[in-house]
Amino acid sequence: MTEQTRIFLADYTPPNWLVEQVHLTFALSPAATRVKSRIRFAPNTATSDRDFFLHGEGPALISAAIDGAPVTPEMVRGGLTCAVPDRAFTWEAEVEISPATNTALEGLYTSNGMYCTQCEAEGFRKITFYPDRPDVMAPFTVRIEGDEKVMLSNGNPTGAGEGWAEWTDPWPKPAYLFALVAGDLVAREDRFTTMSGKTVDLKLWTRPGPDEGKTEFGMEALKASMTWDEEVYKREYDLDIFQIVAVSDFNMGAMENKGLNIFNTSAVLASPETSTDANFERIEAIIAHEYFHNWTGNRITCRDWFQLSLKEGLTVFRDQQFSGDMRSKAVCRINDVLSLRGRQFREDNGPLAHPVQPDSFVEINNFYTATIYEKGAEVIRMLHTLVGQEDYDRALELYFDRHDGEAATIQDWVRVFEDATGRDLTQFKRWYSQAGTPRLSVTDEFRDGSYTLHFKQETPPTPGQEVKDPRVIPIAMGLLNPNGDEVLPTTVLEMTEAEQSFTFDGLAAKPVPSLLRGFSAPVILKRDSSASERAFLLAHDTDPFNKWEAGRALAKDVLVGMVTHGSTPDAAYLQALTTMLRDDQLDPAFRALALRQPGQDDIAQTLFDAGITPDPLAIWRASETLAQEVAEHLQDVAPRLSAEMDVTAPFAPTAAQAGKRALGLGLLSLTTRLDGGHAAQALYDRADNMTLKLGALGCLLDAEVGEEALARFHAEFDGDALVIDKWFAMQVAHASPQNAVDVAEKLSAHKDFNWKNPNRFRALFGALTMNPAGFHTVSGKGYELFADWLIRLDPVNPQIAARMTTGFETWRRYDADRRAMIRGALERILGTKGISSDTAEMVARMLG
Ligand code: TRP
Ligand code: ZN
Repeated sequence: MTEQTRIFLADYTPPNWLVEQVHLTFALSPAATRVKSRIRFAPNTATSDRDFFLHGEGPALISAAIDGAPVTPEMVRGGLTCAVPDRAFTWEAEVEISPATNTALEGLYTSNGMYCTQCEAEGFRKITFYPDRPDVMAPFTVRIEGDEKVMLSNGNPTGAGEGWAEWTDPWPKPAYLFALVAGDLVAREDRFTTMSGKTVDLKLWTRPGPDEGKTEFGMEALKASMTWDEEVYKREYDLDIFQIVAVSDFNMGAMENKGLNIFNTSAVLASPETSTDANFERIEAIIAHEYFHNWTGNRITCRDWFQLSLKEGLTVFRDQQFSGDMRSKAVCRINDVLSLRGRQFREDNGPLAHPVQPDSFVEINNFYTATIYEKGAEVIRMLHTLVGQEDYDRALELYFDRHDGEAATIQDWVRVFEDATGRDLTQFKRWYSQAGTPRLSVTDEFRDGSYTLHFKQETPPTPGQEVKDPRVIPIAMGLLNPNGDEVLPTTVLEMTEAEQSFTFDGLAAKPVPSLLRGFSAPVILKRDSSASERAFLLAHDTDPFNKWEAGRALAKDVLVGMVTHGSTPDAAYLQALTTMLRDDQLDPAFRALALRQPGQDDIAQTLFDAGITPDPLAIWRASETLAQEVAEHLQDVAPRLSAEMDVTAPFAPTAAQAGKRALGLGLLSLTTRLDGGHAAQALYDRADNMTLKLGALGCLLDAEVGEEALARFHAEFDGDALVIDKWFAMQVAHASPQNAVDVAEKLSAHKDFNWKNPNRFRALFGALTMNPAGFHTVSGKGYELFADWLIRLDPVNPQIAARMTTGFETWRRYDADRRAMIRGALERILGTKGISSDTAEMVARMLG
């Protein structure tokens, strides 16, 4: 295990030296790229310390000079130091790096023979020596020399000739936003006219070949994002050109490099034949996300990495607003909450819990988490709810005016809201500093026309934070009378105390409360509620989120009852579900979501919270039984309804069509339980788009009659990496608990298992850890297989290995045998000679 250095927020000091201008020259060569830097440094008048330190990890220093005179810097851990004059000076250095052997995909590397970079968070120091911290911002000019057909960097093109290209980015930026791409690439080109009438060239680059046919949707999403940011946030684009490059080997979804976004192929390339509706939706959101970073992240960046949620939470909130405007608001909100609960609540209730603003870290790469992103977005959504749209708009205007061109803090962000609205947000800031998900319990009483709700908030301890103080919780709510009419439309209660009551007078009868409408706060609502009240809200709530939530709570109660007492699914649930499904006033997408069962991991956490040790296999069995019951109950309804969901128009990735396909496939999965896969096979044979094809394949695999379809699928899409990823993931996701590990192991020996490619590794092992009954199989062989592969991946790509260890993050929920086996696996990883500090930090935190 390498030595771990912990960085603390409290230790922040401003940089000693600022950078006025950067010139970089790259002489490209796969194993020996030369990088010359010429950097103008000036003393930072905010400090008196003049020590000079440049980060650098990996580049071999060939020469260095200050104001033209050679110098010999001292190499120290993580970089170099050098004696420098006590005034502005020009630093010049030449280094050599090897992109072709860079498998960590951080810094400059090659992917399929194409050069590309990933510098966030601390990758620039792998390219050259530099003050690689986000509060050092500078304009960059970049010259690229090489024989690549296309050579790109940030900003505007300012010159090109035989064997070279030059790019100039006039906007001061931190090094993490630097990008370079070079290779044999082709572009889809388009144009956008901004609100002030400037023309911007748009280019979406891919490798020549089949990928070229998958760029249309991404380009349309980009233009829609540009329009939306002008209309909703008054933000205009600020360069002559905006480019996106699709890269096959990429650690995350995409990266917002100034003017030159780099995308994982999976996050930008799409076609009806190869992409599902969910893929299209995700691509649209990620394109928007990266584009929106141009203002929230690039023009206003982060002072240090403890402020990461300043840009990520805000940008996720913005992309969620965008998706809600482009598609169905209600359906988007439900999906966002599903993923918040599935990923962030899971994190927040386990050993990896941390605040939206952490106070220390070892590896910043380990903090690109659901808490920073999704909970960060929820915190902004709560601010929005508390202050209202108008004040939110004024606060944002102030934020852009006040901090444009700066590296700001979360403190600055909150102050903008205080200044724009006159509110004191001291208590609200606990959402940034305290980890953990609050439990909000509620009881009610009705007397003499007065209805009172008693709320109590409690947050369980999280690592390093034993005691929690009450937070500000916006509770959006409404009241329905017993006929189902709304007697109190949506109102926001502002809870600030540990316990607090709210009374509503003048009611004729005891109302039914609809609480936390739109999921107005990221809390776990605890209310003992009868099945009939839940069914009532499912039928009558005017808030679409809570309508869905009522159905989901009902299903959860049913499943938990089945697991704990072996009860049978009650008729109230089946009846409510049928009524809901047949309600053709409801959006099919909504009905598809309501038909979906609560996830098995969600049930496990719910049981654990109730003091019951979850048994993954028992949960799986209950889910199967429930699905079978639902299938039988809906036997007559399903085929008819499913016929209504047929889309006759040509495929379009619209919300309306996607909703119909989703409901159709939800019903098909029920039908498959009764017909052994007959209907699924017919659909597979006629499907002309990936959504239906993959949906049908999943059903066939569930029915264990998918062998032939699997083989055909592979043959049809051989060579299309993004589709072959699906082929891997499907087999593991749809394997039975008894087979999942064997299937995964067998696939890990398949010739197409290019495990160094993050998408492929994730496809297989992400699917395994997300198949709880399979992964947690009693023999413990799932843990062993997974640990073996993490140990193998770690030296090649520590970022992905570390991130994937989260497959183990729920380990403390389980029984003593499983805990002992997982502990053994974690200790084996931690004890591996040379294990990266990325993975070591994650595993050590999980072991606690
Ligand atoms: N800033 C990127 C985003 O959210 C995240 C990102 C992309 C990233 N690639 C990365 C973070 C590699 C760390 C490492 O849009
Ligand atoms: Zn982001």
